[in-house]
Amino acid sequence: MEITEMTLDDLEMMQDTLYSDFDNFWSYNLLKQELQNENTTYVIAKENSEVVGFAGISVCLDEATLNNIVVKKSYRGRGIGGELLEALLELCADMNMKSLTLEVNVSNTPAIKLYEKFGFKNLGIRKKYYNNSQDAIIMTKYDI
Ligand SMILES: CC(C)(COP(=O)(O)OP(=O)(O)OC[C@H]1O[C@@H](n2cnc3c(N)ncnc32)[C@H](O)[C@@H]1OP(=O)(O)O)[C@@H](O)C(=O)NCCC(=O)NCCS
Repeated sequence: MEITEMTLDDLEMMQDTLYSDFDNFWSYNLLKQELQNENTTYVIAKENSEVVGFAGISVCLDEATLNNIVVKKSYRGRGIGGELLEALLELCADMNMKSLTLEVNVSNTPAIKLYEKFGFKNLGIRKKYYNNSQDAIIMTKYDI
């Protein structure tokens, strides 16, 4: 598997299958804005030139935020999410970030377990963060 920086061309190539092959990510238009934002960096995972996952952070001063991490539905449970997160943590280290923070739905066990595996700690809860109904857990990793 190959992890590289994601480009607008990558996103355009994924456009037709983005919503069927992936879930729980920001919309195509928001991802496009993310890729055009100079404070934001996305990485993409490819297997035999097939896109199997992508993830991205935005940075403000020395704090980074994980905005999206998603693996193609049919490729989950094979370590790709972990590799994407590791790539972003390396990027954070290269940019001298002090922390990486994220929000995750309280019911998203796979993602919560992934973050815990990489040393993220539970900082608190944002009540009714998703659709004004489900709570988000705020998680941060400081020792980058
Ligand atoms: C969260 C997500 C990115 C994980 O990707 P993945 O490639 O399946 O994860 P990995 O195979 O790298 O697993 C890494 C760790 O995550 C945890 N994990 C992954 N899937 C899990 C599951 N179904 N149940 C419990 N833990 C799970 C485990 O700790 C695992 O480590 P282990 O294999 O040593 O037990 C993937 O489920 C996904 O794309 N979900 C939809 C998008 C999403 O919800 N993103 C998070 C938004 S906050």
